[in-house]
Amino acid sequence: LHDHFSANSLQLTKRLCSYTPGNKNHSPVWAWNEWDPLEEIVLGTPEMACCPEVLPEAKACISENKFDFLIKHKGKYWKSVIEPEHYKLMLDEHANFIRILQGEGVKVVHPEPIDFAKTFKTPNFSAHGVDCAMPRDFLLIVGDEMIESTMTWRSRYFEFMCYKTLIKDYWRRGAKWTAAPKPMCRESLFKENYCADEDSSAFFDEKTSILTEEEPVFDAADFIRCGRDIFAHVSQVSNNSGIEWVRRHLAPKGIRVHALNFVDPKPMHIDTTLFTPRPGVAITCPERPCLQIGLFKKAGWDVVVAPYPDIPKNFPYYISSQWLSLNVVMLDEKRVLVEKDEIGIQKLFEKIGITSVKVPFKHCFSIGGGIHCWTSDVRRRGDLQNYFD
Ligand code: NVA
Repeated sequence: LHDHFSANSLQLTKRLCSYTPGNKNHSPVWAWNEWDPLEEIVLGTPEMACCPEVLPEAKACISENKFDFLIKHKGKYWKSVIEPEHYKLMLDEHANFIRILQGEGVKVVHPEPIDFAKTFKTPNFSAHGVDCAMPRDFLLIVGDEMIESTMTWRSRYFEFMCYKTLIKDYWRRGAKWTAAPKPMCRESLFKENYCADEDSSAFFDEKTSILTEEEPVFDAADFIRCGRDIFAHVSQVSNNSGIEWVRRHLAPKGIRVHALNFVDPKPMHIDTTLFTPRPGVAITCPERPCLQIGLFKKAGWDVVVAPYPDIPKNFPYYISSQWLSLNVVMLDEKRVLVEKDEIGIQKLFEKIGITSVKVPFKHCFSIGGGIHCWTSDVRRRGDLQNYFD
């Protein structure tokens, strides 16, 4: 055992010594944008996933018409809440998605679930967990770097534990590893008696947010990567301080982080609102206009408005809106993984020269995320480029 350990640490030392920042040959993690050819992806797992507690910060993100259901089932395993047939279809879709990815030559890895039904406690709050189904929310991959986001829902505070094995493995093999400062999540991070106006047509900003700027908080899914430019969604889970933290952290790499404000009273995660399938094209949600869309137009990008989703609103979306239709993953600049019943968006992709690889995935939508949310692309073949000037 001792010899084995020494040999391993020697190997580790050698690797650490030969590490060159920003060199893809030295890192298994390498992704600068949403569209370079996909080689490796983290896919979340539904195991032990629980219905979230509707704490004030979750209320600020979820439509009011879902509260009763969520309050009734909070803290229970989804497995015991969802219709058995629906749950089985979700598991089948998940297994089939792995086969589709592998068939495309993509390596698929997974986080390790913990028992999310258990209540945990910090000096400032207690909650039970949610899931590790949505790696996009937690892991921000920029080039050779894995950034652990802070996570804003208190129920998701300990989700980072599910990624430790994966992250340590990538780190040992040469990736850069950063954990954003863990927030205190005191009551004062959240505005007292906050209530979002679901009919508001104002651009969302710090005045309309549940969050104060007491400390930086952000979810990784509020960032969309376009090489040297990264777009950040000011939301109910990412405050301006959180976006500023990412901006300053990435500035030495020459990356510019732009904060975007949308008309959306309950914004959470940019990937149902704006998506960049390839250089020069931004797809936007017709119900959520962007205040700074001029940034794309000025740089010569086409801004294309997405069609309304085909999967009806009354499909059991227990947490999210039906805009998961926009929640897609690029295999490369010309091929997209998209839900098989979302015909409208497939037609739009066809118009712009992108072929849809149709994935049955809608039963997985039910616990809160689409194809983009359920994944985090850790390796894409391609280098850091400037697509904006
Ligand atoms: N704000 C999003 C959350 C998606 C994960 C929605 O449209 O529901």
